[in-house]
Amino acid sequence: MIRVVVVDDIPSTRENLKKLLSFEDDIDVVGTAGDGREGVEVTRRLQPHVVLMDVNMPGMDGIAATEQLAVELPQCPVVIMSVQGERDYLRRAMQSGAREFLIKPFTGDELVSSIRRVYELEAKKGAYLPKVAPSDEPERPGGRLVAVVSGKGGCGKSFVAVNLALALRMETSAKVCLVDLDLQFGDVGVMLNLDHAKTITELVDGDGQLDWEFVDDVLADGPLGLRVLLGPFSPEYGDLVKAEHVRSIVDILRREFDYVVVDTASQLSEAALEVIDAADRILVVGALTIPAIKDTRLMLKTLESLRVERDRIVVLVNGHDAHAVYDSPSIERNLKFPVRVQIPSEPRLVGGSIHRAVPLLVGNPDADISQLFKGLARSLLPSADPAVEIKVESKPTPGHRFSLRR
Ligand SMILES: Nc1ncnc2c1ncn2[C@@H]1O[C@H](COP(=O)(O)OP(=O)(O)OP(=O)(O)O)[C@@H](O)[C@H]1O
Ligand SMILES: [Mg+2]
Repeated sequence: MIRVVVVDDIPSTRENLKKLLSFEDDIDVVGTAGDGREGVEVTRRLQPHVVLMDVNMPGMDGIAATEQLAVELPQCPVVIMSVQGERDYLRRAMQSGAREFLIKPFTGDELVSSIRRVYELEAKKGAYLPKVAPSDEPERPGGRLVAVVSGKGGCGKSFVAVNLALALRMETSAKVCLVDLDLQFGDVGVMLNLDHAKTITELVDGDGQLDWEFVDDVLADGPLGLRVLLGPFSPEYGDLVKAEHVRSIVDILRREFDYVVVDTASQLSEAALEVIDAADRILVVGALTIPAIKDTRLMLKTLESLRVERDRIVVLVNGHDAHAVYDSPSIERNLKFPVRVQIPSEPRLVGGSIHRAVPLLVGNPDADISQLFKGLARSLLPSADPAVEIKVESKPTPGHRFSLRR
């Protein structure tokens, strides 16, 4: 049965639609609402397969309600119903995340086939998606897995992954492992100045049976007691690492470590998807250029369609500077996501640390940026109070706004 909610401010329209749909054996109108706000509430409560949404309604209109539903309940697709000529509405409706658009007056057949199409597409999507735990599933056993991802290359993923892993070592007595899953051009080894002969390729050679002693031998020793699984030495080895290898490597590392931080490549490889699927936190690294903002939005949309729950996602904007034309409210509006961390642009400090291969947290543990990483590390502790605002403790440089919000 396709469960439908009808949102329209005119009672007779609601009744007509209900009556029309009652002739269909596979469609059931499970609820109705008289304005956008009520529509969102009813959808939240009844979780229908399809929402039929009028545009012009008092209070919250259909566009605003669709926008909210697209973010909050993406599994409940919206079909917008609007009168002809509302061209601007059509554009806004599509931008707001509506799946289909019906122009009034429409026939019963048009209505029914639109509902069925949207329902079938959603069902198909569910069948293809990797299995991601629903949010009420208990935390996965073992250490916490943090995936560092970004849509755009060069936003600072590796810089963030390396320094976050070191900050976790500094702020806790936890055992931390950093994994370089940029399987073609991984930079973790050079950023940490590691001279080590073994990489992840050693772990994919055998019959798939991994034991901890073997993995332990492959891990490199980084600064501050950090253990590191390096990426392949050469890009052609990247393809040898399959999703099932990543799964068993991550499983074994989570058994041995309190935190496993994974740096990834910018494209969503099967290896990255495997980690995203299993991660407790997905740190999406963005930057303040138009392409980077667009790619961050795309990444967030992709995570949404992979059914990754919002509370597993942390957005970090890297390379913010005092002259940036964007502020965090405008980015948040664009991304429809809170920006939890802003790392300022510090070419001298960051560039210097990468050039000397001495990570920031080791060379400048008290710098403002280092403090942000420590704050970020603390916010990942299971005991962290999500309501506490974490900021740089020292005085920030004038013009910079450093903040870490939950
Ligand atoms: N906050 C910052 N301030 C100044 N420079 C930065 C900052 N963050 C990163 N950079 C610079 O950006 C460059 C790219 O960073 P990094 O290699 O971490 O990005 P990436 O996202 O891992 O790239 P790739 O997609 O190639 O893996 C670094 O060489 C570093 O010098
Ligand atoms: Mg990188």
